[in-house]
Amino acid sequence: MCGIVAYIGKKEAYPIIVKGLKRLEYRGYDSAGIALLNNGELNTYKKQGKVANLEDFTKDKDCSGHVGIGHTRWATHGPPNDVNAHPHASENGNITLVHNGIIENYNSIRQQLESKGYVFKSDTDTEVLCYLIYDIKTNTGVKLGKATRLALQQVVGAYAIVVMCKDEPNKIVVARKSSPLVVGIGKENDFYVASDATPIVEYTKQVVYLNDDEIAVLNKEKGMKLFNIDEDQKEPYIEELELRLEAIEKEGYEHFMLKEIHEQPRSIKDCFRGRLNAEKGWVSLGGIKDYEQKMIKANRIIMIACGTSWHAGLVGEYLFEDLARINVEVEYASEFRYRNPIINENDIVIAISQSGETADTLAALELAKSKGATILGICNVVGSSISRITDAGSYTHAGPEIGVASTKAFTAQVTVLTLMALYLAKLKGTISETKFRTMLSELEAIPQKVQQILDKNEGIKLIAKQYKNASNALYLGRGSSFPVALEGALKLKEISYIHAEGYPAAEMKHGPIALIDEEMPVFVIATSGPSYEKVVSNIQEVKARKGKLIAVVTEGDEQVHSIADNTIEIPDTDEHLVPLLATIPFQLLSYHIAVMRNCNVDQPRNLAKSVTVE
Ligand code: G6P
Repeated sequence: MCGIVAYIGKKEAYPIIVKGLKRLEYRGYDSAGIALLNNGELNTYKKQGKVANLEDFTKDKDCSGHVGIGHTRWATHGPPNDVNAHPHASENGNITLVHNGIIENYNSIRQQLESKGYVFKSDTDTEVLCYLIYDIKTNTGVKLGKATRLALQQVVGAYAIVVMCKDEPNKIVVARKSSPLVVGIGKENDFYVASDATPIVEYTKQVVYLNDDEIAVLNKEKGMKLFNIDEDQKEPYIEELELRLEAIEKEGYEHFMLKEIHEQPRSIKDCFRGRLNAEKGWVSLGGIKDYEQKMIKANRIIMIACGTSWHAGLVGEYLFEDLARINVEVEYASEFRYRNPIINENDIVIAISQSGETADTLAALELAKSKGATILGICNVVGSSISRITDAGSYTHAGPEIGVASTKAFTAQVTVLTLMALYLAKLKGTISETKFRTMLSELEAIPQKVQQILDKNEGIKLIAKQYKNASNALYLGRGSSFPVALEGALKLKEISYIHAEGYPAAEMKHGPIALIDEEMPVFVIATSGPSYEKVVSNIQEVKARKGKLIAVVTEGDEQVHSIADNTIEIPDTDEHLVPLLATIPFQLLSYHIAVMRNCNVDQPRNLAKSVTVE
């Protein structure tokens, strides 16, 4: 977590950094800070809360300077306050740095430095690193780049850092291990640094993604020099950004989340564009072609993910098992990696991650790789860490997702998993030609059907109004609608702070049923299909206990309609594709409930979009 922005060049640094920090607020918003170097003076401003607070605070301050570093924080070590906010400085204020990640051995380094007489001001691990760089620089007389490199050799943990020094005003030093960092290369030795490309795209499209254990010195006179942490110099690999600026703006929507919900007809289409042709009857996933034989012969495929992406994995499990008859296990990345899992070179591990940066997913993947497994990725962010360490994979092409609660990334993940399942099923011969072609046509029709659901927004808002004061909610589904129930509950929890649980509908009677009374809204997916009648029985059980029932049903449904308090109709589709449609009303319901409760929809409390700590 935490977002980093830095600039060095001929322009004023402050506006570039503040604007960049706002774009990175999805990474954390506990505090924000900036340090600017101007004519030998280092001005540092830090404030608890959002970047807007920092802006207010700096209104009457000197914010000039052509070199600067900025940070938006998601607190790990030490509470969110002004003192713990970044940037942190060395004791004499000469060196200052911003950091994203965790220095695991900070305590022992701190004790070592304290024994030399240093006194620390904050509780953070970052300050320790700053003091260490200062200590090495003063004791050995080396330049900032080398001092940083020597300090990092002592560090255990994860970091993306930008370091700046009063005595060497023409440069900033950047380094990365396990936390992302991108360097944008401007026209005349001006450099833009950020945790992702969104703060950079409006200035330059030429970028270098730093790899683990790389360190770069960005000098406004001498240009960029890239090194390995052990000092070998190397050529930077410059890439061209494909990101469009409009994709990261709200474009008239009140919130990013609402924009992203409404983008789904397009994002789902972008996801399968060029990958399927219903008329000619083919699916193609170039990214995994080299591994297709291994996949169809695999004893099992393990999907690892966190949060919403884990829910997409659960939908994937149903699809892979039912269509391609491949055994799938879905694991929380954080559990998988600490369990000494049994994996070997015959296994295939697929990581699912919107950001491609989630620390637990990344570490689980590295573990699987070290045991010889083939590792594949389903990521949204192009060039992200996961996409770069995997053997192969498929991007979701959903476009930048800024709202902290994931929406369009989820449906894009499910779309890729559907394409993969169909591709493997065809290859393996576990699907009939007729079924295959029907499913392709149905998948092609999904964007249009999603639009039909979005067109019911006003009706869904009225339903949201009835339940906005609930303090608990249950979400129920069977089969591949069970992960949709989990995702529905997560969306409500995340953004409206209403306690919600997702359950397999049939499991309700083994516990949650005890919670049901006339105050409890129960959201159920009761679409037509093999388990419809069973779900109807579960619905009767809820009604018998006077629970409030909100059901997502297939268009034309009469039975559930006559029992439920509210129904939301979705168009009919193949049962395997129901998750892509059934999830939409839940996204809208959560969104409206959160807005009605005056919650910060795009930046819910305590959460961050990209969780780069374990
Ligand atoms: C955080 C976000 C979630 C996301 C999860 C996994 O918790 O708030 O929305 O689902 O991380 O992130 P990933 O980028 O790996 O999909």
